[in-house]
Amino acid sequence: MITFAPKFIDMQENMNYLDRNEFNFEPSEEVKAAIRNFDLGKLCFYTRIYDQGKKSIFSVYLSELYDIDEKQILVGYGAEDLLKKTVHFFLTEGGSKTMLIPKFSWWYYKSIADEVAGTTLQYPVYEDGNTFRYDFDGLKKMVDELQPKILLVASPNNPTGNGLTPEEMERLVDMVPQSTILLVDEAYASFISSDASYIKMLIEKHPNIVVCRTLSKFYGLPGLRMGFGFIGKGEEMERFARYANMYLGYDRLSEEVAIAALKSDAHYREIAAVMDEARQMYKRELSGLDGFTVYESRANFILIKYPIKMKEPLQEAFANQHYKVKFMNEPGIDTHLRITLGRREQNRLVCDTILRIYKEVM
Ligand SMILES: Cc1ncc(COP(=O)(O)O)c(C=O)c1O
Repeated sequence: MITFAPKFIDMQENMNYLDRNEFNFEPSEEVKAAIRNFDLGKLCFYTRIYDQGKKSIFSVYLSELYDIDEKQILVGYGAEDLLKKTVHFFLTEGGSKTMLIPKFSWWYYKSIADEVAGTTLQYPVYEDGNTFRYDFDGLKKMVDELQPKILLVASPNNPTGNGLTPEEMERLVDMVPQSTILLVDEAYASFISSDASYIKMLIEKHPNIVVCRTLSKFYGLPGLRMGFGFIGKGEEMERFARYANMYLGYDRLSEEVAIAALKSDAHYREIAAVMDEARQMYKRELSGLDGFTVYESRANFILIKYPIKMKEPLQEAFANQHYKVKFMNEPGIDTHLRITLGRREQNRLVCDTILRIYKEVM
């Protein structure tokens, strides 16, 4: 039974945060024990694992879990850090300074390219019924013409929620020249499947891949700021790893908590099942309404198109009930709500609010 109500020390009390794809549930018992039992003496010393040529007990654990050479694993301050480092490194190497990103995607991608005067261009993502898809042909044309330094794909993509299969990922990497880095943002990928064996296959075969993952979404620890990544082999990637790796190690408490989270997959799968119920509820109760589309989502949020005249009354109704959800503003996707999937009672209240305003306004 999941009963947790987080105490928002530095946030607004009684507010329900369903706007930034955070975690409204309880951490696993293993995570709590890792924090409770942490040996504070470790904070008085640097790790000595670099004497063994390794970065972190976390990268060593990941290496066993994913059956990947530790040298091909990155650890970062959230996926954010790894995305930023990848973009900064490869766009400033000389040669192309162009990165391709999906038409609808996380705003931050463009921002990190801007920081190093890179050029960001959007490739097509199209709506197909109740899902979004990458346009592989349109994308191939852009890659051939522009020979970008980075092709970024997000799977699942935020905010559209659609993901790529391992076969599609393979198709993408075959589509780019070796001089293009395929940067895959898999912040939400654990919601799709616990099988990540394709990562090893991809990075063994292709030198030009960077895959980023995080503890922030499926494992519900955005405040921990722990991310990890996987890279291909070869001279260019070795240089990138030297740039991205921290010589004196990583936060020793965070690395233990991260390992505990990955070891308690079952707890998080249980929560993912609650999110799945919520997806079904939104689909069942809203998708038949006039002007609504409830999109397929593989992540811990759902994207819903609603009639624009509901916008203001909805904003007011959510504010009055101390709920935050994300009203999208980007062109082409500005009559859409992105709602984090939360606890059962939160999901119910959000759905009921939408139904009530629909009856009042439509
Ligand atoms: C697509 C995507 N990638 C990465 C992140 C950042 O994750 P992290 O907390 O690991 O930095 C987010 C956060 O919302 C996201 O939506």
